[in-house]
Amino acid sequence: MELLTDSTALQRWIDARRAAGGGIGFVPTMGALHAGHMALIHAARAQTAHVVASIFVNPTQFGPNEDFGRYPRTLDADRVLLTEAGCAALYLPTVEQIYPEGFQTSVRVGALAEELCGRSRPGHFDGVAVVVTILLNRVRPDVAFFGLKDYQQYLVIRRLVTDLVLPVRVVGVPTVREPDGLAMSSRNRYLDAESRRRAAALYRGLSLAREAWIAGERDGTVLENRVRQVLQQAGIDTVEYVSLREARSLRSYTPQADREEDPVMLLAVRVGGARLIDNMVLSSEEGAGLSI
Ligand code: PAJ
Repeated sequence: MELLTDSTALQRWIDARRAAGGGIGFVPTMGALHAGHMALIHAARAQTAHVVASIFVNPTQFGPNEDFGRYPRTLDADRVLLTEAGCAALYLPTVEQIYPEGFQTSVRVGALAEELCGRSRPGHFDGVAVVVTILLNRVRPDVAFFGLKDYQQYLVIRRLVTDLVLPVRVVGVPTVREPDGLAMSSRNRYLDAESRRRAAALYRGLSLAREAWIAGERDGTVLENRVRQVLQQAGIDTVEYVSLREARSLRSYTPQADREEDPVMLLAVRVGGARLIDNMVLSSEEGAGLSI
């Protein structure tokens, strides 16, 4: 796997691959890679000829009291995983390359980015939007791959790509989970054994809501309370939000007589020093993803 540590090397590599023919697939990450990230690499390999990943722990998407300083950095292990997965190149920019002196532009997505995680992490999606725009402009991929685990982020990026007419196709990849259902996340490393056990309640709660949906329950508050109850019983007392939304717009879910929007249940909690998020589209099979 080629290591590209500056934008000149990246441009040279991209130009050569483009000349060789076949599409370029891009998987942006913050490192501390796990099987969830690898699912994106596999999806990229299946759909494009040349796969580039990036690792950049983006300072602008972390709040002042968040975990930027202690975010896990495991470059050697990440390189092994990417090589094994058949990733062709890894772009490793420095903070100065992404935000050179004098940088002062912001990219802000509207309503979609203002609720849920946007509310509990002010400025977070501005940081994501600006870095993804810069990375897409540097790599100029044909297709970019994002995980549905970060469901709101996925929708925000799709919105941004559409609104700014960025010439890239965005693909969402279903969430990869541990055997007990916990969504894989770089932040799971923060969990001690007891918190890790409690964290399985996120998936149990979401699954219970889906069962209730399938059984015919359509009241958003009832469905949300089912999830909250499971979280509470597991001893998770800091719940940032549990919210049933329309899957495409993230507007509050209201059942319509004439059309049924897909509902997505989204949640964010704090367990043992880690902030964990998860979601589930209640109207489709787990892992089926969503074609939007
Ligand atoms: P990071 O958290 O490293 O995630 C990189 C990509 O992997 C994201 O698209 C995320 O949704 C996906 N991913 C993480 N866990 C997953 C899982 N269990 N199953 C499927 N996909 C999963 O998300 C970011 O980095 C950053 O915000 C970034 C987009 C790189 C911008 O800085």
